[in-house]
Amino acid sequence: MTDQTAHRKLSFRILRYNPQENGSTPRLQRYELEEADGMTLFIALNEIREQQDPSLQFDFVCRAGICGSCGMMINGRPGLACRTLTRNLPPEITLAPLPIFELIGDLSVNTGRWMRDLGERLETWVHMKAGELDLGHIEETMDPDLAEQIYLLDRCIECGCCVAACGTARMREDFVGAVGLSKIARFRLDPRDARTDADYYELIGDDDGVFGCMSLLACHDVCPKNLPLKTQIAFLRRKIAAVGIK
Ligand code: SF4
Ligand code: F3S
Ligand code: FES
Repeated sequence: MTDQTAHRKLSFRILRYNPQENGSTPRLQRYELEEADGMTLFIALNEIREQQDPSLQFDFVCRAGICGSCGMMINGRPGLACRTLTRNLPPEITLAPLPIFELIGDLSVNTGRWMRDLGERLETWVHMKAGELDLGHIEETMDPDLAEQIYLLDRCIECGCCVAACGTARMREDFVGAVGLSKIARFRLDPRDARTDADYYELIGDDDGVFGCMSLLACHDVCPKNLPLKTQIAFLRRKIAAVGIK
């Protein structure tokens, strides 16, 4: 009789490399552990670090798909380690850091700096209209459907998965990625933002912006928050292209 409660033996191959360390060279290191019920990659990596290799580097903060810090390549596909159940993966699991972003070490990358630079470049804050800067100005109420559309885009956790999956981002160092385009789409929707499509054209009307996107749509497939990237990018491209044609 087979034991129904037997757990699988998982075999991890993890890309190890510490650019801070003299003599460190990229290599795949193998670790094995027994799968547990409800095991996520977060749990598995912690177990490896606690029981087998304290030098293994990876990032986690919230463990709940909120902070965006645990993005990594999971069997070649970007995803959040804390939201990935090992039972949905084959027993051989290969983990690597997200490409594009600065490597800190092993599975840890600096998405924070990339996102901060992007935010500064695209000025990802509401540019209030002149009269609304007055203290005492009462904000107008927002149509609930519009507020919902903005909220959908505000759910981005800046995990970097869409950027890591994008062929254009691999070729163009300054490409703003789906995350950048979705942020512009978000502020463009916001009735409090004073910027016009001509202003947005200045920001993203080139090959590092909306015209660099080749509609590969990997961003849409991998976004862990299911942002409507496909429709937003297509809509934005039509609107921004119209400014260029005028
Ligand atoms: Fe992550 Fe999605 Fe935001 Fe891209 S758009 S950074 S995949 S949450
Ligand atoms: Fe890249 Fe997504 Fe465009 S994968 S090319 S940003 S549709
Ligand atoms: Fe925060 Fe995974 S640890 S999203």
